[in-house]
Amino acid sequence: MPALKILVIPGSLRTGSLNAKLAAAAAYQFAHVGAEVTRISLADFPLPLYDGDLQSKSGVPKNAINLKRMIGAHHGVLIVTPEYNASVPPLVKNTIDWVTRVQDAHETRGQVFRGRAFAIAAASESRLGGMRALAALRLILSACHATVIPNQLALSFAGQAYDDMDRLKHPPDIEALGALVRQLIDVSQRMM
Ligand SMILES: Cc1cc2nc3c(=O)[nH]c(=O)nc-3n(C[C@H](O)[C@H](O)[C@H](O)COP(=O)(O)O)c2cc1C
Repeated sequence: MPALKILVIPGSLRTGSLNAKLAAAAAYQFAHVGAEVTRISLADFPLPLYDGDLQSKSGVPKNAINLKRMIGAHHGVLIVTPEYNASVPPLVKNTIDWVTRVQDAHETRGQVFRGRAFAIAAASESRLGGMRALAALRLILSACHATVIPNQLALSFAGQAYDDMDRLKHPPDIEALGALVRQLIDVSQRMM
């Protein structure tokens, strides 16, 4: 069986991002259990705000095509999203919107979301830990016909969750992340 490939996508570009730290902690756990992990930054895939006129005039931007192919080259995907006003930030929604517009030869539009396992996580300084962003993201991905695993992680009080090496320091958080990692691996393996 080929090595299981997992793509980790943090949904924040901010220096010191709590979600980028969670994405890094998850990538470490995926690697620890033998998965081949790619952790990207959406800063490397800049995209304009979706505009149908822009798409009609210039087509889907190369970065959306590259990101779609990057997703397609992995068996499972973890998206770690901040919560903005009880939903996902524009960066996350806009990126997904553009990727759903990509249509490679012999594929239907948005096909990359089908038949692939996704996991979702969030980190926030609030008590809810980005739970409402997760509900929104689950809905968006489900509408794209993605398989979104039941486990998710909403990391509450994330400002106090990491040590000075940016590792999760509280055992319940480490266990919750471990459960998410294991379930994404299990479901991705079954879908290979
Ligand atoms: C426009 C905006 C709206 C926000 N709304 C929420 C919110 O609804 N719930 C929440 O828990 N945090 C909210 N926050 C705080 C973010 O969760 C916090 O800034 C977080 O650290 C952002 O993620 P990052 O550290 O990965 O960049 C909001 C922040 C911004 C800038």
